Amino acid sequence: MLIAGNWKMYKGPGETREFCAAFAPPDGVDVVLCPPFGSLGAGVASGHTIYAQNVHWADEGAFTGEVSTKILLELGVRGAIVGHSERRQYFGETDETVARRTVAALGHGLKVIACVGESAEERESGQTELVLRLQVESVADAAGTHSNLVLAYEPVWAIGTGKTATPEIAQEAHALIKSLLDVPVLYGGSVKPENAEELLSQPGVDGALVGGASLDVESFTAICQAAARFHS
Ligand code: PGA
Repeated sequence: MLIAGNWKMYKGPGETREFCAAFAPPDGVDVVLCPPFGSLGAGVASGHTIYAQNVHWADEGAFTGEVSTKILLELGVRGAIVGHSERRQYFGETDETVARRTVAALGHGLKVIACVGESAEERESGQTELVLRLQVESVADAAGTHSNLVLAYEPVWAIGTGKTATPEIAQEAHALIKSLLDVPVLYGGSVKPENAEELLSQPGVDGALVGGASLDVESFTAICQAAARFHS
């Protein structure tokens, strides 16, 4: 099981150091923290496994506001999230750019968590399967089943809303995703200590991508402990 904490645009270096010093992940679960760019160095220095929240496909160049795999590797960062729905929604990320970021990062030895998920409108209009198919196939065509690749199913309507997918909805989506690309699939969207065990108990759920509840040491530790109970 993999539990990833996506801190989004929270926690500067000071708060990162504080969190990391207080956080002791349980045995039997892989845990990664994804601080914002300015806090990556502080995270790496703590000894915890650190991923970035995005990475560019070019080795270097005139790409203001972006960061390369080479820079991340030099910092000691081990992986990156790509294609988070907030990137897709607010920063023009497309299936094509997600695929390019994924391929470049994997090619340079970074681990990748590539995010997919349907919006509320897409689900209500019966397009969930189509949307997931397009998003996953774009990554699958570009990268295939790479051992450093993990997908995250994050229904957009469940992110930061307190609405969690039912275990049945998650399981159904995970099964579809795995039938298109056979890699581990994390669930993301309002994962909390209270619902983690139920979601993680689904056979197709291989871990979680946690936003809000990863900002607090106690709640993130509780989620990691729930995951550790499924270690076999
Ligand atoms: P949330 O965010 O847990 O706050 O819903 C999940 C995510 O965006 O990765």
